[in-house]
Amino acid sequence: MDVVIVGAGITGITAALLLAEKGRRVAVLEKETVAAGETGNTTAHITEAIDARYHYVKRHYSKEEARLVAEASRASIGKIAELVSRFSIDCHFKRVPGYLYTEKRKYVAELKNEAASAREAGLDAQWVTEVPLSFETRGAVLWPNQAQFHPREYLTALARRAVAAGAQIFENTFATKVDKGRVETEHGIVTAEHVFMATNVPIGGFTHVHVKAAAYRSYAMAFAETNAHPDGLFWDTADPYHYTRWQETNEGTFLITGGEDHRTGEEEDTDGCFERLASYTREYFGEHEERYRWSGQIIEPHGGLPLIGGSSTEVYVSTGYAGQGMTFGTAGAMLVSDLILGVPNPWADVFSPMRNRPHITTKEFITENMHFPAHLVSDRLTSAGVEAHSTEAVAAGEGKIIKVDGRKIAAYRDDGGALHCLSPVCTHMKCDVAWNPAERTWDCPCHGSRFTPTGDVLNGPAHEPLEKM
Ligand code: FES
Repeated sequence: MDVVIVGAGITGITAALLLAEKGRRVAVLEKETVAAGETGNTTAHITEAIDARYHYVKRHYSKEEARLVAEASRASIGKIAELVSRFSIDCHFKRVPGYLYTEKRKYVAELKNEAASAREAGLDAQWVTEVPLSFETRGAVLWPNQAQFHPREYLTALARRAVAAGAQIFENTFATKVDKGRVETEHGIVTAEHVFMATNVPIGGFTHVHVKAAAYRSYAMAFAETNAHPDGLFWDTADPYHYTRWQETNEGTFLITGGEDHRTGEEEDTDGCFERLASYTREYFGEHEERYRWSGQIIEPHGGLPLIGGSSTEVYVSTGYAGQGMTFGTAGAMLVSDLILGVPNPWADVFSPMRNRPHITTKEFITENMHFPAHLVSDRLTSAGVEAHSTEAVAAGEGKIIKVDGRKIAAYRDDGGALHCLSPVCTHMKCDVAWNPAERTWDCPCHGSRFTPTGDVLNGPAHEPLEKM
């Protein structure tokens, strides 16, 4: 193979298509199925607006780097639009405006500054006082010509096009070890000139990347919409914040709201996150019939910008999209494809996983990374997280950390009453996992690995299951 790509989300599939169209022999390895990971859990806001904010990038990086980030965001939306049009992909793709609005006077100056900074970076953002929502706001940054689509419809069509262009996609193929030029899977070994880890976060030994990224859970709900609604993507300035849009589908129109983010593994009442989101939706958008609820993993990068490019292990990575997965996933595919093809790309330095800007975020870096040693020490030396001392305290459908004979156990009782006992020690770097009741998963607070109730890996960086006890 010329290129082996791990992960069949938007990054991996887009890269497979771009590389296969240039005549490269490409294999994509996916542990489940196309779009089954975070791309399938997104609410698909396709936007030039960035979580880090352009005024932050201008101040802490440079004006030129803010321009490059703006250019990458705009080019990514353009690439999605081009692929949708070129392949006539029926994915309900639509250009819509985006509104970063506030209900609080104290954020007005900051948002006006953001509009000016984004414009200076080359975008068409502007401050407006009219926001097409049914409740009052203080104004918004308007981002014209953003986009939305149904992510699974887009990606499954794109995967078929990648295969038609010559790429091979191997679903249900879990990569157990990734090195320069070589990927081990449970079915065999694939060798290639280039390896691209296109998973939400790279699995295995990419410590230099993992310490620059923090994992958060974000919650989303879809409600049947029968009323007239505005076209647009909407983001507020609350803490935790909310995002809203509407989506036409073959099943009808849905109002999709999201938010209530928290660090992975650090919220005990994850059902409460959904309840708060439901109550926010009722309060701001009225009564709607709930149809779906789900959550996704967001990777917040050190320094606010994605980490895309060659890592120190000579494996390409693309992570840290900070909630802009559709936009930066596409940017990551474009950039890494260029790097593999030897085509110069002006975005390479600003997104490099090896970038070193100690003046930017030393405090942020230390704060985020104190979680790891703090958890590790308290997990090993104390009874932190222990909720009971007997398996009888674990009800059907429930997981608990219990301590029996001096040993901590991650105990889960399935709906049939059978008990599954695991070591709570995360196989990545040995923090203890915590039970996530809303999703029935074991989540690690240190770098965001997640496991099924019976210990199989759902999200890296861990790549080995929890030990059975
Ligand atoms: Fe790193 Fe668990 S994810 S220790």
